[in-house]
Order: sequence, then C-alpha cells, then structure tokens
Amino acid sequence: MQIYLDYSSTTPPRPEVVTCVNQVLSENWGNPSSIHQWGKKASMILETARKQITNSIKANDLESIIFTSGGTEANNLAILGIAKQYKKRQHIIISSVEHSSINKPIKFLETHGWKVTRLPVNCQGRINPHDLKAAIRKDTILISIIYGQSEVGTVQPIKELCQIAKSYDILFHTDAAQAIGKLAINVQDLNVDLLSFSAHKIYGIQGAGALYIRPGIKISPLLYGGGQEQEIRSGTQSLATIAGFGVATELVCEEIIEENNRLIQLRNQLFKYMSDCPYLILSGHQEYRLPHHVSFIVSNLSKNQKLKKITGQTIVRHMNLAGIGISAGSACHSGKLIPSPILLAMGYSASDAISGIRLTLGKDTTINDITWTATVLKQILSHLFE
Ligand SMILES: Cc1ncc(COP(=O)(O)O)c(C=O)c1O
Repeated sequence: MQIYLDYSSTTPPRPEVVTCVNQVLSENWGNPSSIHQWGKKASMILETARKQITNSIKANDLESIIFTSGGTEANNLAILGIAKQYKKRQHIIISSVEHSSINKPIKFLETHGWKVTRLPVNCQGRINPHDLKAAIRKDTILISIIYGQSEVGTVQPIKELCQIAKSYDILFHTDAAQAIGKLAINVQDLNVDLLSFSAHKIYGIQGAGALYIRPGIKISPLLYGGGQEQEIRSGTQSLATIAGFGVATELVCEEIIEENNRLIQLRNQLFKYMSDCPYLILSGHQEYRLPHHVSFIVSNLSKNQKLKKITGQTIVRHMNLAGIGISAGSACHSGKLIPSPILLAMGYSASDAISGIRLTLGKDTTINDITWTATVLKQILSHLFE
C-alpha cells in the first residue's frame, strides 16, 4: 500500500489540469505577446487564467495578478520589489515563522542596512497582534506575515494584523502559498495589499505562481526584459503551466467547503488515533490550523523514561520504507542535522526541534489511509522506543 501524505510539499496535478496543460502544449503553444493569431490565442488563454485566479480570490482588477514562477518568486517580488521603491533603508516587520522565500530576501536586505523586526510567536505558533502594534516604527514600510504555516499548520489572524497595518498606513503582504484552497481567501475582505500563492500546492503543476498586488501600489521589477506582466515581471509567461494554474485555482476554490469538511474529519481522526501514543506530542495550534495538517514532535523519552533521541528524519525514512510519504521539519546540511527554525521560534529546545514530523492530507486521502498510517506510525515508534 502506497500512501502519500505530503500534500503541503506538493500536490499531484488533478486530471482537469493535466488535460488543460496537454491541450495548451499541443494546440496553443503561441507566445502571448505575439500579435498574430497564434499569439492572440495564447494571450486569450493567459487572460482566462488571470480571470479565474482574480475571481477565486475576489480581486476586482485583472491587472492585480502578476504571474511568477511560483510562491518563492512571488515572495521575493513582494519583499524586494517594495524595498526597491525606497532610496533610503527602512524598517520591515515579519514573523519568526516565515518560509525561507521570505527569510532569505529579508536577510539580503538586512545585509544592506535595512532594519527588520521578527515578531515572536507563542508555543502554538501564533502571533499576538499587540506585538505587531508594539513593533511598528516611524520608518516601517512593510509588514509580511505568513498566512498558514507549512510546518506546523498554524493559521495567523491575518485580517486583524492587516487592520493594524492599515491603521498605520503600512503595506501588508501575506504568503498564502499554504492557505490558498484551504481557507477561503477574499482580498477585499482581508484588505491585504500583496498576497503570494503557488500552483503546485493546489493540484496545479510546479513552476507557476502569482502575486496579487492591490491596484495603485507601486512595485519595482526584479527581472528586466520584454516588459511582460505590466513591466513588473519580464519573461515569456509559462503558458501551459499558468493555464493549469487557472483551472486548479478555480476548482479548488469551488470545492473548498466540502473538501475541507472532509479533510478536517480525516485530520481529527488521525489526531484521535495517535492520542494514545506516548511518543508523540501535537505541535502547532489545535483550533487555528490548516484543515489538512497534522504535525507532531517525537518525544525524547522511552517507555522506561530513558532519554532517547529519535529525529523526524528517522521517522520519515521508516515511514517511507513502509510505503508512506510524510515529511520532517528539520533539514540535513553537509551531514549535520539542523533544528527547525520554526520549532525553535515556538520555544522548543534544539533537541525537540529536530524531532518534528508533518503529515498533510489531500484530495486522494481516504479513511483507510488514515487508519493504516496510524497503525504503521505507532508500530514504528514502539519499535524505535523499545
Ligand atoms: C509557505 C510557503 N511559501 C512559499 C513556498 C514556495 O513556493 P514554491 O515552491 O511555489 O516556490 C512554499 C513551498 O513550500 C511554502 O510552503
């Protein structure tokens, strides 16, 4: 039995997306910037995808969507594109649980003299809005907070945080790569200025993403060239990938209520099955949590209370041998295990922060998958802790 439980890492493209992508590749492969019939057809396909995405996040203006190569590029564009608008170095606020595609451009700005505040989170990974208020300075020009955290599933109070930003007239960006398709996103209601998302987290294919930019907000390009995407992102658009992204976004948003109810039930069932396992501690928020997300810290103690260190990666390898795909928060660099910065920010010790595991559910996950996964995971843990 093969069970994929790593949907936060990437999702299998849905059949409707594959059909659309194949059709574009075989029949409508023109360059959307060309003015002949092949180009016109390609341009229509591009604009259909833009419309599907605009509608799905309740944006009013087609021009508010800038296609990118994925969530990473959208995040880089949001951070660096806004920073480039300023001649003098300013101050930016982010959370301490951001994805590396926010952290790394922010670090780059810091090395160039920008000031950055990283908001703390509580042990469940949530920001206290009062901390945001307290961190705001005269020179704060941008606040960027992840919507749904990929490793521990915690959802931030984005609307409230955005309201604070607005009350100080500061731009607000959110990385919604994990949230789109899981939480109904309405950019008007949230009042965000910038929002990043990615196709391959919602059953599209890898290599497409978008940045929503509220009309009127000025942003500098990171790529210079042919002037596509309103001069904000030059380069011929990856038409087939983007067409699939449009279909994927539309379908995932149409199905969101029904599918999320199903996923929440499965997720809760998995938590319930594992609740009598003495070797796992739930990580992340119980209530404010992505609907498909299950995460744990593996305990340090064996049955007879002896100290035993089992890493998340060890569990991932054992689960893989049993045919089940899950993931760990910690990473291995040059043979050295690096504790998860997310778990460290949540207050876990370095030894706990190498013991995180994540199981993320999706469209093809069934109750049988959950039952079998729980049985296998318990067996593996009992064996490792013997
Ligand atoms: C929260 C978050 N932001 C950004 C990204 C990057 O997206 P992409 O893989 O499309 O570059 C990811 C991917 O895992 C993510 O989880």
